[in-house]
Amino acid sequence: MYLVTKNFQGLFRIFYTDRDHGFASFGSSRPPLSWRVFKSGNCWSVIRRVRLISGLILFSYVTMHLVAPALGNVSLALMEQVRPFMQAPWETLPGQGLLYASMSAHLALAFYALYRRRRWRNMRAGEVFQLAFGFAIPPLLVLHLVSTRVASDVFALDPTYPWIMAIFFEFDTLSGLRQLGVLLAAWVHGCLGIYFWLRLKPWWGRVRQPLFAAALVWPTVALLGFYSAGQEAAALTKNPDWIKKTLQQVGSLGPDLVEMLKLTEFWISITMLFFLVVIPPLRFLRHRMERRRGLVHIRYDNGKEAVINQGVSILEASREKGIPHASVCGGRGRCSTCRVRVRAGGKFLPQPSEAEVKVLRRIRAASDVRLACQCIPACGVVEVTPLLPPSATAKDGHDRPEYLQGREMEIAVLFADLRGFTQLSEDRLPYDTVFLLNRYFDSMGRAIEEAGGHLDKFIGDGIMALFGVDNDPADGCRKALRAAELMSERLASLNQGLKNDLRQPLRIGIGIHAGAAIVGEMGYGRATQLTAIGDTVNTASRLESKTKDYGAQLIVSGSVLGVANVMPPDRLPADEITVRGRNEPLAVHVVMDASVLSEIIPELTDDL
Ligand code: FES
Repeated sequence: MYLVTKNFQGLFRIFYTDRDHGFASFGSSRPPLSWRVFKSGNCWSVIRRVRLISGLILFSYVTMHLVAPALGNVSLALMEQVRPFMQAPWETLPGQGLLYASMSAHLALAFYALYRRRRWRNMRAGEVFQLAFGFAIPPLLVLHLVSTRVASDVFALDPTYPWIMAIFFEFDTLSGLRQLGVLLAAWVHGCLGIYFWLRLKPWWGRVRQPLFAAALVWPTVALLGFYSAGQEAAALTKNPDWIKKTLQQVGSLGPDLVEMLKLTEFWISITMLFFLVVIPPLRFLRHRMERRRGLVHIRYDNGKEAVINQGVSILEASREKGIPHASVCGGRGRCSTCRVRVRAGGKFLPQPSEAEVKVLRRIRAASDVRLACQCIPACGVVEVTPLLPPSATAKDGHDRPEYLQGREMEIAVLFADLRGFTQLSEDRLPYDTVFLLNRYFDSMGRAIEEAGGHLDKFIGDGIMALFGVDNDPADGCRKALRAAELMSERLASLNQGLKNDLRQPLRIGIGIHAGAAIVGEMGYGRATQLTAIGDTVNTASRLESKTKDYGAQLIVSGSVLGVANVMPPDRLPADEITVRGRNEPLAVHVVMDASVLSEIIPELTDDL
């Protein structure tokens, strides 16, 4: 009702401004539309849901269609025996309604997506394949749809599998190839759709391999069965009695009805063609209208600027300008990898829709962060900084701990270094050196992770690890001490294993300090990782260097034992040392052999 009472310009503006966000009206005093879905600003997410649900219904239809061909590996008769069970769900009234509604909705939304997409040029290979296979389905499907579903639903024919296979393999092999084509196209299209949907889920890694295997094995089995059943049916056609009997069972159409089926096929094809033909002019018209409305400037932190039409999202602006911008979900507002910090011009952006808010909340984004694919600036100049490198993956969009975005925390930092490794590597072949270092990193890395630490980085033959970033500092300090003990134990085992290869055993120096540090994900591209910076990190590194002066395996600062709530026992020598960069001397404890740490500090084993 509301739409009808408004003038054309107002109505158009609502639709135009919120094309991607549903219909909450931005920059306008007009109330939102009364329809619940539009009012919630969630129209686009409803569209996505309809596309997903209708796609899943169609995919289950295709999957069931592969059951019978798969059974063709056993026999044509078995294939025919299961037919009623496979068809039953789709022959009831609700089943038919669901099937035809899903087909229409999915197709209509595919046309809409084609119209809506501004750039086809930078589509990824997977999207191109999905689209190509998707649009190949209707023309290939029309004949099958008309000769089976329409013939059975409207004209009460009962095409049996022996008869269908006989047609495909003996009388009309072109139809057989078309049927094969449509099944494969639908299968690939559906699998790609499911892949694009599920790969954003945090548990995708666990199900990926079984799903890939199923996606390959299931159609292969069905294809083999299809061929085997086809051969069986072709052999049966040599018998004229069989043909006569089968025709009686299937039923036949008069010339008028055949004509009607052909006409139905013709009109379905023409309708498809019509939509495909009108979309490019409609897109052109939209482009012209947007250009007349005005331009928007998007400025990036690297000095680049994209001047775009109104109605174009920030992500689309990046694409038009050729600025690499992460967008794992292809601009569907699901992955969050396109997120940007809005440095200026936030007032020109629409309020985030419910769907966008949900995604931003999931990644605990700051208040000035928006999804570039969901932001359509209304006018003016908007300055943004993309927050993820173009190489971001779906993992970057998962629920992430808050500290990854940068936070000052109380943590324990561990540094370790191999003593005399330069000399050790001098008379070795590069291959041997790399082999030895990798064995060492493997042992130490496992020790740190088993103790509950985060491996930060390997620097040359040095190691840096953080403790307490996802638990309390006391626990972190205890884990750091436990890690030092494990590292010492593992080094002893490694020396034992390599005793014939080493002139002298490997020696290690470890420094641990606890205190405040800035923790967050830092770096560039694939080199982005969780790390820490600050005085605590520098001090831990200095303590590790000091182990050389003491000839000790471990030096741990007094603050580590204090925070860990383990009293420095008498057996642990204490000292005060001056650390470069600190005015005050630092209380430290020197441990000659870290492998006996829990004997010296029995409290360390309490949590194990
Ligand atoms: S591209 Fe995935 S949320 Fe924007």
